[in-house]
Amino acid sequence: MPAFTATAPGKVILFGEHAVVYNRPAIAVPVTQAQARATVTADLRGSLGRVWIDAPAIKLSASLESLSPDHPFNVLFHALRAKLGVTTLPAMRLRIASSLPVAAGMGSGAAVSVAILRAVSAFLGQPLEDTLVCELAFQTEKAYHSTPSGIDNTVITYARPVFFRRGQPLEFLQVVQPFTLIIAQSGIASSTASVVNRVRRAWEQETERYEMLFDRIGAITNLARQHIVLGQPAALGQLMNENHSLLCELGVSCPELDHLVQTAQQAGVLGAKLSGAGGGGNMIALTLLEQAEAHASALLQAGATSVIVTTVQTTPIE
Ligand code: PMV
Repeated sequence: MPAFTATAPGKVILFGEHAVVYNRPAIAVPVTQAQARATVTADLRGSLGRVWIDAPAIKLSASLESLSPDHPFNVLFHALRAKLGVTTLPAMRLRIASSLPVAAGMGSGAAVSVAILRAVSAFLGQPLEDTLVCELAFQTEKAYHSTPSGIDNTVITYARPVFFRRGQPLEFLQVVQPFTLIIAQSGIASSTASVVNRVRRAWEQETERYEMLFDRIGAITNLARQHIVLGQPAALGQLMNENHSLLCELGVSCPELDHLVQTAQQAGVLGAKLSGAGGGGNMIALTLLEQAEAHASALLQAGATSVIVTTVQTTPIE
């Protein structure tokens, strides 16, 4: 029996996190150095309908039915079966491996969902198109945190830089000049759900101030889009610094992230900011390829637990 394997990359948000939940635009890029992988095989000794899941990264080895109904894996399988019109699944084993840090702002949940959806649908002989993968991964994202914007499942499904706005047609970003990012982990696990909920409560209490901050972040994101499309990556750096200051005003940074951002800025990067929900997780710095190693070392010395250097490549003209 053949094995069906699918992979999905990680991601970082370059601009617009949090504001994107409130219908402002955001920009995200895939990160291929780390990825999730799902492998499905038929379980010849298993009983009909039994899905056995091995996910060593989260210390899970269990049948799907033993997990709670609102577990993201159950939400995902439920959505997938409904979409494909499959009432009973054949017995299968699903192995999930991921080199993406969990709760670190790199989209590990969405990457695992996308990889599973592709591998299982192929195993069932009904491989899903990207639009459906994206839609079902979004439904699963809701099980991770109740009000996802949809940016994670989108950038990870399509594995291309995106300019994303809730409810608007998706726009792939035309990158005309490559740019290099350092992604540094703070080592602090952060729950997207709790940070997003904290922002929601603050927004409810101080709606006008938060709306104004989201507007300013949205304006920065629009400007950043122009710089990317015009091939002016250096100009992006200043916008990243400004976006970080606004994220601090939203109250989603933390001393460790601020320290890493300041270290990067003092080391001479073009710009730096936290990325993702904040409260821990990671920060990103825009740098020149030839300086990336020195800047990455400075971040490690300042307490980053790991760093990834990634270059966002040019995208073909459509
Ligand atoms: O922590 P991450 O990488 O999942 O990013 C969350 C981004 C938010 O804008 C805070 C939430 C969302 O759903 O877009």
